[in-house]
Amino acid sequence: MSTVGILGAGVMGIGVAHNAARYQHDVILVDISEEALGKAKEELKKNIRFEAFFNKDTNMEPVEKVIERITFTTDYSVLDKADVIVENVPEIWDIKKEVYLKIDEICPENCIFLVNTSCISITKVASLMQRPSKVIGVHFMNPVPLKTSVEVIKGYHTSDGTIEETQSFLKSIGKEMILVNDLPGFVSNRLSHLLMNEAAFVVQDQVASPKDVDDIFKKCFGHKMGPLETADLIGLDTVVNSLNILYESYQDTKFRCCPLLVKMVDAGLKGRKTGKGFYTYDEYEF
Ligand SMILES: NC(=O)c1ccc[n+]([C@@H]2O[C@H](COP(=O)([O-])OP(=O)(O)OC[C@H]3O[C@@H](n4cnc5c(N)ncnc54)[C@H](O)[C@@H]3O)[C@@H](O)[C@H]2O)c1
Repeated sequence: MSTVGILGAGVMGIGVAHNAARYQHDVILVDISEEALGKAKEELKKNIRFEAFFNKDTNMEPVEKVIERITFTTDYSVLDKADVIVENVPEIWDIKKEVYLKIDEICPENCIFLVNTSCISITKVASLMQRPSKVIGVHFMNPVPLKTSVEVIKGYHTSDGTIEETQSFLKSIGKEMILVNDLPGFVSNRLSHLLMNEAAFVVQDQVASPKDVDDIFKKCFGHKMGPLETADLIGLDTVVNSLNILYESYQDTKFRCCPLLVKMVDAGLKGRKTGKGFYTYDEYEF
């Protein structure tokens, strides 16, 4: 089993930590905020208990045992033991840049770097590192423990060895990979963000309510979730950041962000993580 360094204890970091610890990896969960780490620990306990409640596997380990495998810390230096890094800091270039410059100095030579970005080019992230061949995009789907496939992105310099190691790590946590090439947004978010953004425009233009927009996708198209529920699940701040990256990267107005989304984020309505977005949530639902 590997030591997995997980950067960022937000929506995705919590999911990846849960998944890796459940599959018996040692996890180091790093965040700059003690408050985020405290919240992450509580959320993890709740999610692991919830999983045990619904899982028919009677051999499942107790919550305490899974949590014991996770070190919660603000200290980056302990990443000198990491075999695999999964980076989940906010979708903001300057933050990612600072993080990659730092971990390049700390992490051991054999370490591979899994970039869990929504839209930023993997080749661009790898350009920050002395070892670009070890950098690969792994776009986990949310909620991580429930999703069996991930989109894996080969940067310009990503080596075949890194792809193989990534595949075997993903297999060890119960995931299959779908390998694609690198351009901003890859496949999933280049397409899905157009849909979520246009759905927000439809609401802004008062063509339909969020529920009616989502019902058309669920009841008419047979989708599991509508685009606005999905945006709330991702986090509207992350959706706005991703659209801005797509807009800047392609210089194409089709990615211009809907002003309603920006207004909601400015008002603190970021979706599930704040209890309110296009919908209201009593508490986080797994
Ligand atoms: N939310 C999704 O559904 C989803 C899906 C796939 C990929 N992603 C991508 O994953 C990444 C994280 O998204 P999220 O939704 O988890 O964001 P989030 O805002 O929920 O969490 C980000 C966390 O990173 C922490 N952080 C900030 N700066 C840091 C630093 N320098 N070092 C360590 N931690 C730091 C914050 O305190 C916060 O806890 C983004 O790049 C996003 O695009 C998100």
